Amino acid sequence: MDFLASYATLFEKQLQNLDFPSKPETLYRPQRYILKNGGKRIRPILSLISCGICGSDPQKAMPAALAVELLHNFTLIHDDIMDQADSRRGEPSVHKKWDEATAILSGDSMYTYSLLQLQNISESVDHKKISDLFLKAVNRVCEGQAMDMEFESRSDVSIEEYHQMIDGKTGALIGAAMQMGGMCGNADPDQLEKLSLIGHSLGLAFQIQDDWLDVFGDPEKFGKKKAGDIHEGKKTLLMLSALERCSDAERNVILGYIENKPLSESEVDKVIQIFKSNGIEEDTREIYLQHYSRAENALQEFGDSNYKQDLQHLIKFLKNRES
Ligand code: IPE
Ligand code: IPE
Ligand code: MG
Ligand code: MG
Ligand code: MG
Repeated sequence: MDFLASYATLFEKQLQNLDFPSKPETLYRPQRYILKNGGKRIRPILSLISCGICGSDPQKAMPAALAVELLHNFTLIHDDIMDQADSRRGEPSVHKKWDEATAILSGDSMYTYSLLQLQNISESVDHKKISDLFLKAVNRVCEGQAMDMEFESRSDVSIEEYHQMIDGKTGALIGAAMQMGGMCGNADPDQLEKLSLIGHSLGLAFQIQDDWLDVFGDPEKFGKKKAGDIHEGKKTLLMLSALERCSDAERNVILGYIENKPLSESEVDKVIQIFKSNGIEEDTREIYLQHYSRAENALQEFGDSNYKQDLQHLIKFLKNRES
């Protein structure tokens, strides 16, 4: 994690310079609050490293890194309302600490702060192209989030649809973080294509692992309520694999619970038991590790550099993450 710390420190300093106004308090305090509560800062670090891999000083990607992390935190504020999630990074989520109206508006304001960062990108970079990429990615996040919610009340979601959903809600921003980093380093189209491939695999790996940690991780370390996805009837890969593989009786039990969601603690325990007895825990872990391996293989297409090594370390860190 030491190598990551240097990027994180660099980034954190810039974040502190943002200096939100003090008033109106209900608009800016929630934004300071969510940014102060930490987070791994994976996306901005990916922007900085991607710029380095393409042969430029990572510092050039700082405005893109800020735009991406602010956008990410905005999505978390709104996502926690949508998912009725009461904790985030081990603290009350914004709509719990304040209320939903405050969370919606402070999220909106954070979105504009994110977009403002794009104006600080060097003039040597094509601003139209980079904002086009970013805004299209943001809209793909919205598409993914809409699918995620539509799927809650559907019992016939396919694995293919699940992939489309997570490629939007999570993969799009991770991919954009990397490509924007590359663009800030004046990457050529071939380099951008390679970054997009890595980002795509990383996104799938990261979200499937997030689904896995939600159920099988340590909630203290993960910082979110245990099995929140099961409570909400989310169609995670764990759930879809279980529905595909379990007995008819087990499937009826699960679908019956989901119809009357949110699930109770004892219903959630029963579902976890079904996951475990059908080998879902091990198999899903295997699947996200395979996606990480794809990202590692795609990275081999870049020539050797310290930045390439840093990205290899970052992927290794992500594979073993507990939060
Ligand atoms: C959480 O992302 C949302 C998902 C896409 C799963 P992170 O796990 O990167 O959240 P923080 O910023 O580190 O808290
Ligand atoms: C993450 O989805 C995607 C976005 C926040 C856009 P989740 O709903 O799985 O993320 P967590 O688990 O709340 O962090
Ligand atoms: Mg969600
Ligand atoms: Mg959520
Ligand atoms: Mg989750």
